[in-house]
Amino acid sequence: MRHSIAILGAFAFTFALASAGIVRAVEAGDAESGKKVFAKCQACHSLDAGVNKIGPSLHGIMGRPAASVDGFKYSDAMKNAQLTWTPDVLDHYLTNPRKSVPGTKMAFPGLPKPEDRANIITYLEQAAGAAP
Ligand code: HEC
Repeated sequence: MRHSIAILGAFAFTFALASAGIVRAVEAGDAESGKKVFAKCQACHSLDAGVNKIGPSLHGIMGRPAASVDGFKYSDAMKNAQLTWTPDVLDHYLTNPRKSVPGTKMAFPGLPKPEDRANIITYLEQAAGAAP
């Protein structure tokens, strides 16, 4: 019973967003849930400026061109991808990174659930800081 109320709630929330006329393709998610999804990225990524791990720092990722962190050794695939990390581009990339950017060295299978992607994108918008 509680479960179905939660589903109804999520549905009503999505409907409210849709009727509010938010134009971008990716719906705004929930930053708190997005922080939990980020646990899957943390082994390889920091949100702090200048802190590269296995992957580059994601500080200021929103609006930043791909492969633009100084000192990080990107794959040729990422260097040549000519992407800018907007919510819609991130949504596509995070669904299946190796399909989106063939040859990327990001060894992560992807986030198949749309709500996980919406939530992490909202979290990154709030927590990753402005693009440098
Ligand atoms: C196993 C390590 C690993 C995990 C887990 C991982 N990444 Fe990555 N990520 C990388 C590496 C390595 C690159 C550089 C890719 C390249 O050069 O091809 C990268 C690149 C990226 C980029 C492009 C950054 C830029 O500067 O252009 C984004 C965005 C990104 N990752 C987001 C995420 C998110 C969000 C998650 C979690 C859902 C995640 N990654 C999980 C290793 C990882």
